[in-house]
Amino acid sequence: SKPAVISPSILNCDIADLTGELTKIRNADYAHVDIMDNHFVPNLTWGLPVVEAVIAKNILPVDAHLMIADPDRWAPAYAEAGSASVTFHAEAAHAPIRLARELRRLGAKAGLGLKPTTDIHDYVDLLHEFDMILVMTVEPGFGGQAFLESQIAKIRRVREAANTRQIDLAIQVDGGISRATIERAAEAGADVFVAGSAVFRAADAYEEVEVLRSMANG
Ligand code: DX5
Ligand code: ZN
Repeated sequence: SKPAVISPSILNCDIADLTGELTKIRNADYAHVDIMDNHFVPNLTWGLPVVEAVIAKNILPVDAHLMIADPDRWAPAYAEAGSASVTFHAEAAHAPIRLARELRRLGAKAGLGLKPTTDIHDYVDLLHEFDMILVMTVEPGFGGQAFLESQIAKIRRVREAANTRQIDLAIQVDGGISRATIERAAEAGADVFVAGSAVFRAADAYEEVEVLRSMANG
C-alpha cells in the first residue's frame, strides 16, 4: 500500500500562535482544519478566514473537514480559497455527487465523511466521485475522545469496496488516533491519519508526527 499520510488536527493547538504551531508539524503532509457550525455538531470552531490564514502561511497544505449543515452551499468556497482537500459529511449533503464534482472542478480533492453510525453501504456506488472517504473514529465535535473500535470493520468494508471496484481511494481516519490505535487503523486499510491531541499534547509534536508515520507504515 501507499505511504501513510499524516494530517494533524489544529483543533486543540494554540491558535493565537498559528505560525509556531504549524512550524512544529512542518514534517506532516497536511494541516487538518476542523470547521464546526454548532448545528451539524454541538460545537463551534472557525470558518473560512482561519483556513485562508493557514493557507497564507505556506507551511502545509490544508485538509478542510467541514462538520457543517448544508455543505452544498458552503464547501465550494473552501476549495476556491485553495484547500488541497475538502471533506463534507454524507449526513449533511443534499447532493453529494454534484458537490464532489464541484470541489474537484475547483481543484480540490473531494472527501466524504461518515459519522460512526453511518454505513458505507449507501455510498459504495459513488466512491469513484471521491478522492477520499473519512471514517470518523469518534462522534464528531470534540478532540480528545476515545477511538471507537467499532469503526475498524467499517474501514475494512470501505477498503474492500474500493478494491472490488478498482478505485484509487484514500481512507482517512479521524478521532482518537495515537500510538495506541494507529497500527490497527492502518492494518484495516486506512492510509490518511488525523491526530489532534496525540500530536499537540506530545512533548515534541514534530517527533510525534515521525513516530505516527513510521507506525502507520508498519
Ligand atoms: C473531531 C475532529 C477531529 C479532532 C481529533 O470532531 O474532527 O479532527 O480534532 O482530535 P483527537 O485526535 O484528539 O481525537
Ligand atoms: Zn476532523
